[in-house]
Amino acid sequence: MHRAFPASVAAAERFAAEAGFTQSCIPEVGRLLSAAAAAKPAGVIAESGTGAGVGTAWLYSGLGPQARLVTVERDRSLADRAAATFADDPRVQVLTGDWRLLEAHAPFDVFFCDGGGKREDPERVVDLLAPGGVLIMDDFTPAADWPPSFEGQIDELRAFYLGHPRLAAAEVLTTPASAAVIATRLA
Ligand SMILES: C[S@@+](CC[C@H](N)C(=O)[O-])C[C@H]1O[C@@H](n2cnc3c(N)ncnc32)[C@H](O)[C@@H]1O
Repeated sequence: MHRAFPASVAAAERFAAEAGFTQSCIPEVGRLLSAAAAAKPAGVIAESGTGAGVGTAWLYSGLGPQARLVTVERDRSLADRAAATFADDPRVQVLTGDWRLLEAHAPFDVFFCDGGGKREDPERVVDLLAPGGVLIMDDFTPAADWPPSFEGQIDELRAFYLGHPRLAAAEVLTTPASAAVIATRLA
């Protein structure tokens, strides 16, 4: 029988509901995270913004035996809970503090940049990717035109990532009303 969600995702979803945390990634993004992590079986997989651990759990579901997963969350109670969820697996590290704590673990083979980094220091986000490393960012409103726009204004941040000379990048629909940016650092 096929389960809809991996067990750790279901556990994180339960915690998010208990904690009233509403910013977890949607399952469509989660499956993307799982697939990206699985593509780098000995990779360093990173996440900024652990939240309730839902995205972490999706990344974990694709984690190879030789891979490592490091995630950071500035809200201590959320980080503590996520750390408890993955405490039995030495491949997973949950850091408490600002996203820049991740820098000590770079370069990243997969980086789900979801809480800190993508707006504050986009160039640094690109620097932290390994050659061939994959950056994933979600929660965009689909844009059909170039340059991409949001609410009538050019979306400079999305244009930065989609047009960056060191990235091969695409915007993909995750639902009819939401999109993600997937960008691979050129070797
Ligand atoms: C969109 S939620 C994360 C959801 C989670 N990645 C998931 O997919 O289920 C963003 C999280 O990032 C955290 N955050 C925001 N800015 C941060 C920063 N500068 N450093 C670390 N965490 C940050 C917030 O506290 C929040 O829990």
